[in-house]
Amino acid sequence: MALIEIKNLSKIYGEGQENEVRALDGVSLSIERGEFVAVVGASGSGKSTMMNILGCLDVPTRGSYLLDGIPTHHRSERELADIRGRKIGFIFQGYNLIPSLSVWKNVALPLTYQGVGERERKARALEALAAMGIADRADSRPMVLSGGQQQRVAVARAIATRSPILMADEPTGALDSKTGGQVLQILRDLNRAGTTVILITHDNGIAAKAARVVRLSDGRIVEDQQNTPDELCPVGDNFSRAPAVERGD
Ligand SMILES: Nc1ncnc2c1ncn2[C@@H]1O[C@H](COP(=O)(O)OP(=O)(O)O)[C@@H](O)[C@H]1O
Ligand SMILES: [Mg+2]
Repeated sequence: MALIEIKNLSKIYGEGQENEVRALDGVSLSIERGEFVAVVGASGSGKSTMMNILGCLDVPTRGSYLLDGIPTHHRSERELADIRGRKIGFIFQGYNLIPSLSVWKNVALPLTYQGVGERERKARALEALAAMGIADRADSRPMVLSGGQQQRVAVARAIATRSPILMADEPTGALDSKTGGQVLQILRDLNRAGTTVILITHDNGIAAKAARVVRLSDGRIVEDQQNTPDELCPVGDNFSRAPAVERGD
C-alpha cells in the first residue's frame, strides 16, 4: 500500500460564495515509501494547500486521503495533530520559528508532541543543530540569526523528529544558491537514509533534482514525471555529505 494516497481531493475556500477559490480541484496522487517528490507550480497553483493537507495541517473539502493506510480526511484537530506528530517533519515557508524560545528549544518543541522526555529532547535538538553546523547558536534567540541560519534551525527542527516523512515548503526560497544547495543536499541525504521527502517549490531547477516531479496548475496535476537518475544531482556533488555544512552565510 502506498504511503500517501489521495483520491479526487478538492480544497475550496469560501465554497458557494462569490469569492470561492478552488485551490485544489480533484487531485489524485500516490506516493510510495522512500520517494523524493517535488511538487512544482506557479504561485497560486495550490502547492501550499497541498502540503497543508498532505501534512494533516488542514482537511480537504472533498475527496479522500490515506496516510500509511489511515484515513485522515474526517479527523478532529487533535487526531490530526497526533498523526502529524508520529509521521511528519515540516520545513515551512518562512521558517516559523518562535522568537521567544531559544534556538534549541525551537528545535526540541515538536518532540514534546511525540512524548520525548526533556533530557532526550535537548540531546536530540543539539545533535540536529550540530548536523546543521549551528550547534554554537543553540542558546541564541532565532531572530539574531541570519536568514540562512534560521533556515538551518528550521531544518534541524524537522530532522530532530526523525519522522518517516519530511515535507518542505520552498525550503530554499529565501536562501542564496550555495546555502540552498546545502539544504537540498541534506534533504537528499535524508532521503537516501530512507526518509520520504516531499519538496514544494516554484523553481523548476530545484524540482529537477528530485526523482519525481508533480506539477500543479490551477489546482490540478498537469504532469507527473520520473526523472532518470543521470538527471539527478549535480548540486550535491560540490558538498561533502550532510553534516559538514559550512558556517558564515
Ligand atoms: N486561506 C485561504 N483562503 C482563501 N483562499 C486561499 C487561502 N489559502 C490559499 N488560498 C488561495 O488558493 C490558491 C492556492 O494557494 P496556495 O496553495 O497558497 O498556492 P501556492 O502555494 O502554489 O502559491 C490561491 O489562489 C490562493 O489565493
Ligand atoms: Mg505556497
